[in-house]
This record gives sequence, C-alpha cells and structure tokens, in this order.
Amino acid sequence: MDNFTYQNPTKLIFGKGQLDALPEEVKQYGTKVLIVYGGGSIKRNGIYDNVVGKLKEIDAEIYELPGVEPNPKISTVRKGVEICKQNGIDFVLAVGGGSTIDCTKAVATGATLEADMWDVVTKKVQPTDSLPFGTILTHAATGSEMNRGSVITNWETNEKHGWGSPYTYPKFSILDPTHTFSVPKDQTVYGIVDMMSHVLEHYFHQTSNTPIQDRFCESLLKTIMETAPKLLDDPENYEYRETIMLSGTLALNDMLSMGFRGDWGSHNLEHAVSAVHDIPHGGGLAILFPHWMRHVLDKENVERFKQFAVRVFHVETDGKSDVAIAEEGIDRLRTFWNELGAPSRLADYDIDESSVEEMAEKTVVARPEYGNFKTLTKQDSIDIFKASL
Ligand code: NZQ
Ligand code: ZN
Repeated sequence: MDNFTYQNPTKLIFGKGQLDALPEEVKQYGTKVLIVYGGGSIKRNGIYDNVVGKLKEIDAEIYELPGVEPNPKISTVRKGVEICKQNGIDFVLAVGGGSTIDCTKAVATGATLEADMWDVVTKKVQPTDSLPFGTILTHAATGSEMNRGSVITNWETNEKHGWGSPYTYPKFSILDPTHTFSVPKDQTVYGIVDMMSHVLEHYFHQTSNTPIQDRFCESLLKTIMETAPKLLDDPENYEYRETIMLSGTLALNDMLSMGFRGDWGSHNLEHAVSAVHDIPHGGGLAILFPHWMRHVLDKENVERFKQFAVRVFHVETDGKSDVAIAEEGIDRLRTFWNELGAPSRLADYDIDESSVEEMAEKTVVARPEYGNFKTLTKQDSIDIFKASL
C-alpha cells in the first residue's frame, strides 16, 4: 500500500424516516436556508413537501434554487451563488441526486468567493471556504453525498470538469431508501452502472499488497450484481433499495481508495462524451468501461483482470490462457450490463464518428496524459471512442 491519511467528516444519517433528523441538523447552522433541487421529481413524489414541513419546525426562512439539470450547468451555479450573496444564506440544502448535490457544492463554495466559480472548477482559483451544506439524497449513484467531488458543465465551452476542496464534504447526508422508490428504471440502471464503475475505477490500480481493498471492491460488486436484477423487478422493495443506496455511497466515499490511487480513465472518457453530447453519466460509462478494459489489457496487467474475472464472475480457468480468462471477465461484465438494459454503443445516443476527434480532444484538455492504471493519450481516446461507436 501507499501511505495515506483518511478523513471523511460527513455525518451519514441512513434509513426509513430519517428525515426527522433534518430540523436539528440544520438548526446548528442558522435559519436562512437555500433548498437546491432538480427538474421537479421531488414535487411529484412528495419529498419537497416533507422537507419544507421539517424546515418550518425551526421557522426557517426558505429560499429556492429549482431546475438543476442532470449534468449541472455553471450558469445554474451562478444563479445559486447570487441568491446566497443577496440574501445572506446560512445553509444550503441539496434535495436530489448527484447533479443537485454537485451544484450545491459549487453554490456553497461560490457564495464565499469574489471569483467566478468556473475559475474554481477549472482550478485557476483555490477555494478557501464554503457555506455549510447538507444533502437529502433521492437517487443512488454518484456517492457525492459523502465525498468532496463535484462535476460541473459549461455549455458555452462544452467542457465538463470535476473539482473539489476540503470544504466540499456535506455536513450531513440523509439517506432514506424510500426516497429512491420513484427513480425510474433507466435512471436506476444508470445509477447501478455508475456505482459499479466507481468500484472498478478503484480496482484497477498498480499498487501492491491491497488484499483488504480488493476484497472490499469484489464484495461490493458482487452484492450490487446480486441485488440489481431483483430491484429492477421490484422497484419499491425496501431492502433492495437499501442495499443499492448504501453501495452507491461506499463505492465513492474514499473508503475504497485507502492506500492506492485508482485509474479514473473511463470517467475522463465519459465526461468528455457528456460534455459534448449531454448524455446520462451512467449510460456513457456502460458503453465505455468495457472498451477501456479491452484497450488497456496487456501481458503486464493481465493478472488483475484475471483476478476480476475469477473472483467476481467465477470464470472457469481450466485449459484457458490468462488473456482468455481476462477477456471472458470483460465479456461477462458487458453481458451483465446489457441484461440490465444499459446502452452498449455510442450509436444508442446517436453519436457517430464525426465527433470522435472533438471528444478525444476534451479528454486531454486538463493534461496531455491521463489514467493511473494505464497511462493514455489522445490517440488512445480516439481508439476507445471508435471501438465504442
Ligand atoms: O431533476 P429531477 O427532476 O430531480 O430528476 C432526476 C434526474 O432527471 C431523477 N431523479 C432523481 N431522484 C429521483 C428522480 N426521479 C424520480 N424519483 C427520484 N427519487 O434522476 C435524473 C438523474 O439525476 P442526476 O442527479 O442527474 O443523476 P446522478 O445522481 O447520476 O448524477 C449525475 C451527475 O453526477 C456527476 C455526473 O457526471 C453527472 O453530472 N458525477 C458526480 C460525482 C461526484 N460528485 O462524486 C462522481 C460521478 O462519477 C459523476 O461524474
Ligand atoms: Zn461516476
């Protein structure tokens, strides 16, 4: 393992009825509260009314930033920053999925700065603080509820970048699995693919002696794969939603990455695709991750792919070469995601060869090479995108 320091300050409040904790949690930070939410799902499923009811218990003065887009826009972040600055907001509350939470992180940070938030997202300005914020998660996917990451898109420049700071951990996150009952099937699948991809990004690393971390990853993958088909058949099953919700958080709350750096090349590829085409993040990963695997697999790293195939998919090894075993593991992952109904080709989103060059250029905007398990260049991006068409 590499040396590491682990600290995650987010208070996780998990389970049915845990929204009851909201008034006490918010009260410690003040009463002027900005609620941030998406395109209206929380109004349709009743979560909005319940949240407002809870905030009234502490006589909160409520402000709102509705309409956060999937793949949240910097223009929406700027609106939220303005509301905070003009009204002296004490606390920002995200009610939604990863997009709403990521937007909230940017709003809460921007409210403490003179600089424009895009300069923070593009790492020209280092944030030094943030307003306190919390989250009520309604969609199991990104892990944003318990990490410092935020991903923001600029549609003027077609750029999508991840950023984060020590101040962008939520103070608390309330995770009630019943809040995810209304997530439609396609979004549920995207969330499952995203959380599995987070585990896989961790799993493909070059550090030696990580037996505990490997087993954590494998057990998360196996549990998600066991639960996902049952959940899709029975979307209001509390126990299935509960398992998937906790999996999403554990897959990206820094716990899996103790002592090593994962790869994250597939996420770089996907962010480039959704910066140009505004597709769902999990849908893009479902297409790209298996192609990344096939592209980077070689004689030096075959052991890790073999371990994945054998331990996660129980691939039979008798009479097969290491590469054949590794490739079977990749095929099994592809088949599993196909069976869930995830997309498998860029053509599923009407993306063709004409945008390959532009997307590939986006993968190297921040740096000429990317990926920690295998270093990739723009030419690799072009090859992976072409294979994914
Ligand atoms: O906007 P509303 O109306 O709320 O609808 C949303 C949205 O259409 C809907 N939804 C959420 N909860 C629901 C619901 N519909 C019915 N019932 C509910 N309970 O689901 C749709 C997708 O929501 P979104 O928040 O966009 O999804 P997700 O959580 O997958 O977030 C995606 C964003 O997170 C970024 C992605 O790049 C993308 O921009 N990521 C953030 C990460 C992080 N902060 O750590 C890491 C990830 O790798 C990822 O890059
Ligand atoms: Zn992701």
